[in-house]
Amino acid sequence: MSIIDLRAALEPNKISQGSVFINDIPIIRTGKRSDFMIGNFVYKDQQVEFRIWEPNIFKAVTDNGPGVYDAEVIGNSFNDKVYLTVRSIAPSLSDNIKKSDFLMSIPPIILEANWQRVRERLSELGVSDKCWSLIDDVINDPELDGRFQTEGAAIRYHDNIIGGLMHHTTKMLRILSSLLENNPELLASSDLLCFSIVVHDIGKVFEYDNLEVAPYWYSSHRVRGIEFLTKYAERVVENYGEEFYRQVQSVIAGHHGEYGDRPTTVAAAIVHYIDTMESQVTRLIQELQTSEDGRIYDRDWGFLHGLRLGDK
Ligand SMILES: [Fe+2]
Ligand SMILES: [Fe+2]
Repeated sequence: MSIIDLRAALEPNKISQGSVFINDIPIIRTGKRSDFMIGNFVYKDQQVEFRIWEPNIFKAVTDNGPGVYDAEVIGNSFNDKVYLTVRSIAPSLSDNIKKSDFLMSIPPIILEANWQRVRERLSELGVSDKCWSLIDDVINDPELDGRFQTEGAAIRYHDNIIGGLMHHTTKMLRILSSLLENNPELLASSDLLCFSIVVHDIGKVFEYDNLEVAPYWYSSHRVRGIEFLTKYAERVVENYGEEFYRQVQSVIAGHHGEYGDRPTTVAAAIVHYIDTMESQVTRLIQELQTSEDGRIYDRDWGFLHGLRLGDK
């Protein structure tokens, strides 16, 4: 089975067969004849609505939840609205098609190049080799299963793409390098700030699972990050002393500012500002790119008039 090209499949009355991906639990509505299901198929940046009119067909989706399915669909349009009607659907049997094939991703080669560049910049500014070797071991720890490099930074908001966590972290390190240049007083704490940024969201590897909510999401990436790092406690304390280790814990716990445990250290406050700056600017750009009328709605400020954006 190959992946259905969602946009092409929308052509009225066209029948397509292949694999599709459902990211979110669809909703069930009560219709005149019987209940029916409305949901979305996702493929990279395409999101296309589907409808299933027969309860005995959508039962496979209610029973199995979000995931990869094999389906037969037909293009439909009603009152200018286009959607796919699903004629049959069942959990995918193909081993070679995975969920990550359907999600947007940042190419690993770009992630790696950006990481190396900021690493060189921060090393010039004084981040020590000792710190980088600790960072290398932490982000490549077998328990993370390589997911620091592949997990998203969020499910719905900023950097909700494969590789988003590393991308978000890299962008924060770039902001840190500017702050170290602007405020040379901070250079004495460059290892602490650099290491804290690298690990501030590392617990997302446990909160999410390939951009889906993981089973124990409710203990939060802050708690899970602190828990994960305990295995490095001895090494960090030996290299830097206990104060450094406790400061790192305070950054992980307090980096959400007023939206979590309030910051208790200056380091936590600084990382919170960097995190907010990075994630909010990325969110504004992402929302503007998908806005239909060129403006976006902000929860606190109302409608924001758009800004001209170029290509990446
Ligand atoms: Fe966070
Ligand atoms: Fe973050």
